[in-house]
Amino acid sequence: MNEFTRAHFPASIRDRHPRIGLVLGSGLGGFVSRIKIEETVAFADLEGLPVSTVPGHEGRFVFGSIGGIEIVIAQGRVHLYEGWSAREVAAGIRAMAALGIEKLILTNAAGIINEGFRPGQWMQIADHLNFTGQSPLTGGPHFIDQTQVYSRSLRQLFHDQADELGIPLPAGVYAWMPGPQYETPAEIRMLRTLGADAVGMSTVPEAIQARALGIEVAGFSCLTNFGAGMTPDALSHEEVIETGQQAAETLARLLEASFLND
Ligand code: HPA
Repeated sequence: MNEFTRAHFPASIRDRHPRIGLVLGSGLGGFVSRIKIEETVAFADLEGLPVSTVPGHEGRFVFGSIGGIEIVIAQGRVHLYEGWSAREVAAGIRAMAALGIEKLILTNAAGIINEGFRPGQWMQIADHLNFTGQSPLTGGPHFIDQTQVYSRSLRQLFHDQADELGIPLPAGVYAWMPGPQYETPAEIRMLRTLGADAVGMSTVPEAIQARALGIEVAGFSCLTNFGAGMTPDALSHEEVIETGQQAAETLARLLEASFLND
């Protein structure tokens, strides 16, 4: 079920054994300036990896370390709305799995559904709702358990660390919508009724794929804007990117401290 092996990576990468994978969402690419970059590989240079066309998504793996632990960062990702299948969208996760990652941290930019949340805050993903009807596991493996997609022990670790650093980190349910358009106010009300706290267009296929490969998953949503209809304003991609850039530093502090203390 994993078409990737170490042999897909350039020779300079094949001896690397990152323990943690991190996927950076819209506007969060600046996170890599916080780590010591040792090596990079463009997605375009790895056979079988789809390449994104969306502004704000760079499209490369960055190798380095954080809190003294080897990490591989996917800077940029592809989305269903670009025309890729859920299986293609999750290809980067299978590539990172081929390098042996044990833990995967997924990040995204998301709209607020829960009226108690504020733009600029991070939400830790406790669970998800899949509104796309798509799965990266179509064709197999079948019947993978989803009781705990987002690791309880990682959630506890990040929750405790955020508390210690004074970083607000509410937990909530992330709804995966297909996009590419933002939601209507009626859709935001529907999602709230159905139990969502935040909404976005990514992350869920990667989380499902990682669990199927036995990788421990954590997810963070950068709450960039109120959902449609929650304020009189229209939504803009620029606003999403700008808020993400400001919040990237907060997440870097949290992850650094968490892995130092782990
Ligand atoms: N909806 C969907 N995806 C998003 C949003 C939103 O409001 N904000 C950032 N990504």
